[in-house]
Amino acid sequence: MASEIATRALAAFPAGISNGEFGLPPDALMAIERGEGARLWDSAGREYLDFSMGWGSALVGHARPEVVAAVVRQAPLGANFAHLNTAVLELAEEIRRVSPAARRLRFCASGTEATMYCQRLARAVTGKARILKFEGAYHGANEAGVTSLFPARNLDFPEPELTSAGTPSAAHELLVAPWNDLASTAAILRAHAGTLAGVIMEPLQRCTPPVPGFLEGVRALCTELGLVLIWDEVVTGFRLAYGGAQEYYGVVPDLVAYGKALGGGYPIGAFGGRADIMEWVSEHRIGRDDYVWMASTLGGNPISATAARATLGVLRQPGTYEHLHGLGARFREMLRETLARRQAIAQVIGDGPLAQVVFSDRPVTDYRSTARADKARGRRLMLGLFARGVFINPMGTKLYLSLAHDQATCAAFCDRLDDTLAEIG
Ligand SMILES: Cc1ncc(COP(=O)(O)O)c(C=O)c1O
Repeated sequence: MASEIATRALAAFPAGISNGEFGLPPDALMAIERGEGARLWDSAGREYLDFSMGWGSALVGHARPEVVAAVVRQAPLGANFAHLNTAVLELAEEIRRVSPAARRLRFCASGTEATMYCQRLARAVTGKARILKFEGAYHGANEAGVTSLFPARNLDFPEPELTSAGTPSAAHELLVAPWNDLASTAAILRAHAGTLAGVIMEPLQRCTPPVPGFLEGVRALCTELGLVLIWDEVVTGFRLAYGGAQEYYGVVPDLVAYGKALGGGYPIGAFGGRADIMEWVSEHRIGRDDYVWMASTLGGNPISATAARATLGVLRQPGTYEHLHGLGARFREMLRETLARRQAIAQVIGDGPLAQVVFSDRPVTDYRSTARADKARGRRLMLGLFARGVFINPMGTKLYLSLAHDQATCAAFCDRLDDTLAEIG
């Protein structure tokens, strides 16, 4: 029977969910009251180990004291002026210091907006309409983000499959290529260079790492064909390394989008790029053909900017990335050991503090190899873990670690995974 909270939530929200994507059955709906470190408590007082971490936004852990203190200092001084402020200026200077791509920046309030602006800029500067994305990639709730996101049909590349109703322009404005397949990507880019503005990619696509040479190959093709290369670093930024995927993989895009971990859990989005491209959003150009509209009421608000500066201060501390990578590698090993003990046929993928279990007998290198997996089993697993006090998103199987996780948290996860596997077979 649905709880009182679930009944109220189902009346207020479609599917009982306030912000989308969760997909919990009604009898499992609950409301979270508080988080600390890698733990959450719901309104009934039940404790959860958190392996979602605000979909990766709380990389420093929930209620990290340095971030809380910074927000508490700023709150009495005003929440939003919708104008340049010293907190956001200092934040921009720090991002410029570590992101070779972001020579100039602008702030918005989410990753979705950041990737949207990057695409608009690419279209504007090239005067062309189409963007190429990789199958299975998510770039936020805009058209490029939600098209061919989890396609059911294996359409011939580069034809897009609409994942969401209400996105008719995607059918004409998006092309889709297979992740990690440089030859096919090159053929599509060459064949459509005349109508393509740019390429958007997540350098570590969800949890599927790029094969050697793939990122460099796409970079070289974009340069050769005059296409704008957009990196969606909403997840990888400040997570794979302090300098994000640019530092980790040593490749520099033309435009870059940030969000999630940058804000330490507070709403933030940022995009940046080559100075000549970013100049298109300069308001001194309003009324001209070379002006791109950009405006965000909450972009760069001093609360989020202050939280972000404190977050970056935490991430800059010595040992941060050694911890995140060391723990992530150990966690993936522990997952493999647990799955093997239960004779579950599965792949464990990911890099840095990210992991994903895919019930497939074959290596996962792209969307179609993930799609072959037993997704119903994946969902049973996630719901079984949820019932055992592990908070994860049962729609997907992507697990986020944070600075608040340690080997004991990962071992507790694996114990509960073991019990769940025993139950679901
Ligand atoms: C790679 C990637 N890009 C963009 C986004 C969108 O960010 P937001 O939900 O802040 O709009 C997400 C969110 O999950 C993401 O994973």
